[in-house]
Amino acid sequence: MYEFRPGLPDGTGKWYLGREIAWFMSHQGAMWLERPEREEEEQPTRLVEALKLKPGEVVADIGAGSGYLTWRMAKRVGPTGKVFANDIQPEMLAILRTNVAAHGVTNVVPVLGSVTNVDLPAAAIDLAIFVDVYHECDHPHEIIRSLCRALKPGGRLVFVEYRGEDKWVPIKPLHKMTEAQVRKEMAQQPLDWVETVGFLPRQHIIVFRRRAGPARD
Ligand SMILES: C[S@@+](CC[C@H](N)C(=O)[O-])C[C@H]1O[C@@H](n2cnc3c(N)ncnc32)[C@H](O)[C@@H]1O
Repeated sequence: MYEFRPGLPDGTGKWYLGREIAWFMSHQGAMWLERPEREEEEQPTRLVEALKLKPGEVVADIGAGSGYLTWRMAKRVGPTGKVFANDIQPEMLAILRTNVAAHGVTNVVPVLGSVTNVDLPAAAIDLAIFVDVYHECDHPHEIIRSLCRALKPGGRLVFVEYRGEDKWVPIKPLHKMTEAQVRKEMAQQPLDWVETVGFLPRQHIIVFRRRAGPARD
């Protein structure tokens, strides 16, 4: 399923369905995730509004990093809902715990996952979201398979990626994705594309829905 061949100088040389996978961002770069100009560049408030989360819903923030989106979504689902904040770096989860507490949010459950498994309960998630994460997942097939097991039937899966179609978006090519590539990769699993929303300055929001049936090996 994966190919290994040279690609871009800053790439991993590991390919999935014609895409070279990027290296993941170290926790040492966590300050970049909290940069003040991010509000203008990525408009996180508008992004979270567009998700139309309801009180009581269960969200999975995959690759939650420093928690930049986590606490915003946790406020939306309120005390009757919760956000599982998943990451593969314990150092990121330590930063996230501090940031989430600073925003007075108590309905976040940090989860240390692995590169092949999100380690979330089965059929428990209403909405799972990857913000600037999926392109750097080392085992995308296994991660999406494990997530399909965690999503409720009818649950939503959302990708927020820098637009790979747009050469003016000032991000390295391996850290962007095209809509066509995301849709090609999600076609491997029981996921129906719902919509692609394009109002953010640099990213697109690509939404899928989990249909019934087992995740595919
Ligand atoms: C660029 S940061 C984005 C963090 C956060 N989503 C945000 O937008 O602020 C990417 C994060 O994804 C995490 N990550 C990379 N591969 C992952 C995987 N397979 N499963 C879960 N998290 C992963 C990294 O540890 C890092 O914290």
